Amino acid sequence: MDYYSWLKALHVIAIIAWMAGLLYLPRLFVYHVDAPTGSEQARTFEIMERRLLRAIMNPAMIVVWITGLALTFWAGWYKSGWLHAKVALVVVLTAAHMYFARQRRLLAEGRNDNTSGFYRAINEIPTVLMIGIVILVIVKPF
Ligand code: HEM
Repeated sequence: MDYYSWLKALHVIAIIAWMAGLLYLPRLFVYHVDAPTGSEQARTFEIMERRLLRAIMNPAMIVVWITGLALTFWAGWYKSGWLHAKVALVVVLTAAHMYFARQRRLLAEGRNDNTSGFYRAINEIPTVLMIGIVILVIVKPF
């Protein structure tokens, strides 16, 4: 039984769930900020955002970290330059997750002062990071 491959499969499954949330949550913010505060529509966005973060993104992020670190120590990848660069980008991705979680709370409390254009712009951050991370782990350029 090739347990390393099973672990890598679990890693990729968790990545897909986490990335789906990282790409969708700021998109929800784009529409949420334009909904009148206290409206039925705003309440629906609040529920969607809270469930996405708590039921999918937080657990998926934890599984990505645990499986990623397990793969690293299993195969001794911690000596490789690409892994160091990848972890640096994943740290930034995790910081983006934390920032989105904070914005979700501020929006729910009616204390948001960002525009929909701002959320449209920061929506691109996880995409750019993901492209860099995937190239590093697949191509392993150094
Ligand atoms: C700190 C968190 C992470 C660590 C320590 C980590 C580490 C690793 C390691 C050691 C492998 C196995 C590489 C191999 O066997 O060739 C792997 C596979 C992979 N990782 Fe991560 N990873 C992390 C997070 C992520 C994230 C956030 C993404 C994407 C956004 C990602 C994308 C991938 C992909 C696509 C593979 C499969 C590569 C292949 O099949 O060759 N990882 N990761």
